[in-house]
Amino acid sequence: MASQANAALPDGYELEGYRIVKKISSGGFSIVYLARDELDRPVAIKEYLPSSLALRRPGELAPTISDENLPTFRIGLKCFFEEGRALARILHPNVVRVINFFRANDTVYMVMQYEQGRSLQEHILKHRERGDRKLVGERFIRMVFSQVMNGLREVHTNKLLHLDLKPANVYLRSDASPILLDFGAARQTLQADTGKLYPMYTPGFAGPELYEKNGSLGPWTDIYSIGASIFACMSGHAPQPADARLLNDKMASKYRDLADTYSEELLGVVEWCLRLDPLARPQSVFALQKALLERTPTQPKRSLLRTLRRFMRSLLPRGLRGSDPTSTISMNTR
Ligand SMILES: Nc1ncnc2c1ncn2[C@@H]1O[C@H](COP(=O)(O)OP(=O)(O)OP(=O)(O)O)[C@@H](O)[C@H]1O
Ligand SMILES: [Mg+2]
Repeated sequence: MASQANAALPDGYELEGYRIVKKISSGGFSIVYLARDELDRPVAIKEYLPSSLALRRPGELAPTISDENLPTFRIGLKCFFEEGRALARILHPNVVRVINFFRANDTVYMVMQYEQGRSLQEHILKHRERGDRKLVGERFIRMVFSQVMNGLREVHTNKLLHLDLKPANVYLRSDASPILLDFGAARQTLQADTGKLYPMYTPGFAGPELYEKNGSLGPWTDIYSIGASIFACMSGHAPQPADARLLNDKMASKYRDLADTYSEELLGVVEWCLRLDPLARPQSVFALQKALLERTPTQPKRSLLRTLRRFMRSLLPRGLRGSDPTSTISMNTR
């Protein structure tokens, strides 16, 4: 079945005691709704509906799935259900809170605590559109990622891996505290047309072992994605994809470009997380957090040209100086 957009459940629809208010987002694997529970509290409900396997036309509730796709759809459904069950055990301020999960309309629903805010990806894009030179300030990165890592530690302690960590799956509440969303387990099946199960990954954010058939996945795999996400905060784009890096690694020059803006210590940690050899990376989130704490930032190394420009600008009368890109520290937490 060709991949196509699935129709969302209609606004006002009653789903096992929850009333759908509206669709919030739809991705390739699922649709997320804002809904209200019986006490009229807001919840987010995620519906498993991979568009490459299942088609729901407007006005229908259950999707149509071809006989050919049914086994794969069912394996994905089971993974989604298991993921819900595993996540429901985790109670951590930086991991999305799963309240309930159930079967209906021939698929599975995961009910989560509704969070207000926006994704880290949206945060980065907003800074990029504004043309801020320093997209996300170092203090903000350290503050957000130390909490992301707290959440991830809890996930790993529960014998789960995230496997799709990237700025789009880190949600920032209005007070800038982050929440991990969208765990990758349900995606493990979608290439099963070849009879094999492969985890799906996002190029740039996925370690090389995710590209391999029998790659050894572990905490180090999520740690690669942490490094990639911090890099995206700094540069505004994903790192070079791991498969391309294996052939011709261009990351060293990217780190050099960032050395003007971010401390050597933070760049060192990112470089460590993004090592292609899984064994050369921090092996646990704890080790990574320790390194981040120990490496207190020093001033970024400014290029001679930039220092000269700053000096020249300082000679001008205040009104004529314009904005100094090196001083726009975007600690904006929203
Ligand atoms: N608990 C929540 N509270 C508020 N909004 C949420 C919540 N969970 C998800 N969302 C919204 O839905 C968007 C997509 O969520 P998520 O990343 O879980 O799914 P997805 O990327 O669409 O999934 P997939 O790639 O599996 O289709 C988020 O960026 C956010 O806007
Ligand atoms: Mg997502």
